[in-house]
Amino acid sequence: MKKKTLCALPRPVLIGLMGCGKSSIGRRLSKKLKMPLVDLDEVIVAKAGMSIPDIFAKLGEEAFRDMESAALAEHIKDRAILATGGGVVLREPNRRLLKAHPPVIWLKAAPEFLAERIAGDSNRPLIANQDTLERLRTLAAERYPLYEQCADLIIERDEATKDEIVSLIIQYLKKVQA
Ligand code: S3P
Repeated sequence: MKKKTLCALPRPVLIGLMGCGKSSIGRRLSKKLKMPLVDLDEVIVAKAGMSIPDIFAKLGEEAFRDMESAALAEHIKDRAILATGGGVVLREPNRRLLKAHPPVIWLKAAPEFLAERIAGDSNRPLIANQDTLERLRTLAAERYPLYEQCADLIIERDEATKDEIVSLIIQYLKKVQA
């Protein structure tokens, strides 16, 4: 019988609202699975040669969304774990791409949990100078249905530690690989 190796596991795409831990959980998964991590926000920043707040301030949100869509289309087929930005699900063509490339894993978390983690973060223009919790509640109302549409697996982020989540994801990847 052919032996299954960790690097043959399906490559997960992590989605969810800002602050749910897509990048940090992605980094832990990457170490455990010895699979590279592509962080779409980092790809965008490197390509644009400026920070995310600068892209929003100088070019506007639509330009950022164009860059995000281009980065997703370019990297969705990489042999890598993909950490996305929280707004990647807003555009329909992006959702189509996500659905066509399972497994997509939604790290679902309540606005109250996220607000504590990201309040005052100057690198996130969508919450700058606003009531973080209120803003996250609005984003959750808009986006939860979109995350749900795209997700093959939903993990309740606020009920587990990062290490537990990494284990759950690896268990799931092994199950769908079988
Ligand atoms: C955004 C989330 C950010 C980043 C940008 C827009 C969003 O990524 O892409 O600030 O629309 O929710 P994180 O989810 O990694 O914070």
